[in-house]
Amino acid sequence: MTKTTSASRDIATTIHPYTNLKVHETEGPLVITEGDGVFVRDENGKMYLEGLAGLWNASLGFSERRLAEAAYRQMLKLPFYHTFAHKSTDIGIELAEKLLSMAPVPMSKVFFVNSGSEANDTVVKLVWYYNNALGRPRKKKIISRTKAYHGVTVASASLTGLPNNHRDFDLPIENILHVECPHFYRFGFPGETEEAFAGRMAESLEQRILSEGADTVAAFIAEPIMGAGGVLLPPTSYWEKIQAVLNKYDVLLIADEVICAFGRTGDMWGSITYRMHPDMITCAKALSSGYMPIGAVLVSEAIYEALVKQSEKIGVFSHGFTYSGHPVSSAVALETLKIYEQDDILSQVRRMAPLMQAGLRQFAAHALVGEVRGVGLIGAIELVADKASKASFDPSAAVGPFLIKRAHHYGLILRALGDSIAFCPPLIINEEEIELMFERFALALNDTFAMVRERGLIESGLVPALAK
Ligand SMILES: Cc1ncc(COP(=O)(O)O)c(C=O)c1O
Repeated sequence: MTKTTSASRDIATTIHPYTNLKVHETEGPLVITEGDGVFVRDENGKMYLEGLAGLWNASLGFSERRLAEAAYRQMLKLPFYHTFAHKSTDIGIELAEKLLSMAPVPMSKVFFVNSGSEANDTVVKLVWYYNNALGRPRKKKIISRTKAYHGVTVASASLTGLPNNHRDFDLPIENILHVECPHFYRFGFPGETEEAFAGRMAESLEQRILSEGADTVAAFIAEPIMGAGGVLLPPTSYWEKIQAVLNKYDVLLIADEVICAFGRTGDMWGSITYRMHPDMITCAKALSSGYMPIGAVLVSEAIYEALVKQSEKIGVFSHGFTYSGHPVSSAVALETLKIYEQDDILSQVRRMAPLMQAGLRQFAAHALVGEVRGVGLIGAIELVADKASKASFDPSAAVGPFLIKRAHHYGLILRALGDSIAFCPPLIINEEEIELMFERFALALNDTFAMVRERGLIESGLVPALAK
């Protein structure tokens, strides 16, 4: 009789997000059972350094007792209550006050959700509701960017600018547009400066607004740093130039801070790092260090006033989730924000950032590495088949995924975004752990180099550099 393993039970029962479901039937899962600081342990006792903080979220690592205790205390006191129909909770109020006090620009109110996708879905509805309230029923289009990641629900997946999030899901929905991805390394013209490239991106946005009709364009949504699209940093002066265009045509700016918020870039918000002045902000992930599902939408006073006006007219603001402002999630989020403050997480990130960035950049000269990029405690190393032409590997060669497997072998969990290898460790990582992360990565990179040479992928497997 075959022994039942957790892998076989998983294969028999579970559909995995972002997984090749066919491959999973034979390969099965890596089953994680415990966490300790920046490490997680699998069911066989093997320890891995979590180089992506789970999914860019476990900023306080995997064993923060204060968060467990905050959840337990709240569970005993009030495990559930809701915020519908004029109800509220003391802990939810406290969290909303705290978030507003931390906001990078003056914000008026907070709407609680359970995830980044729900936050961005909510934003789409608020943008439409807002323009209906202002008597501008045509001003409904929302501009996002190629390679953006804003989530997977119907509206947020439409905002996402990655082909596989649309393909065969019959997305995007109407009124969602995508403009160019501002990745200078890939899309800058030969001889063009970063600043000129940023200018070209802004001009092209302006042309798009004009060709669509400014009276039909409501909002521009963007991550300060594009995360799942490959950890793509904005080129110099990009945000200044983009915001000038948005202001000119009365187009709202929505900052998707789901990855950037709460210290990742070395500031409390990506909007601070890049001097963005958003009208709405979405956040989730590190809001609770990933310990409970919670997200939030922060809105400006102007937007809030429009929501009030429209809900007064209709009789109700008919939007909200059973778990909007869940007391246990709120308690954990509030404790997380207290820890960031008491432990001075920003100083910690700023102390570690030079090591992290130098650690990434030590690989810049490697034959397989096209670009190294990053800020604060986030970064990526993009693998290429040819450094000079920036030619990428054929995706079917699965070079990035191969490296990830080798990293697992050496006890390091990272994520391949195409052939860009993303690094986003817990914010509590220390010097020795950063060194260990890069030591393990170096081993995986060298194995990958050996593999591509052995398979002749460097000489023969070239495809042209990615088209725009
Ligand atoms: C920038 C950004 N927005 C939104 C989301 C979606 O968040 P969730 O997976 O919590 O729905 C993500 C998730 O990675 C993200 O990185």
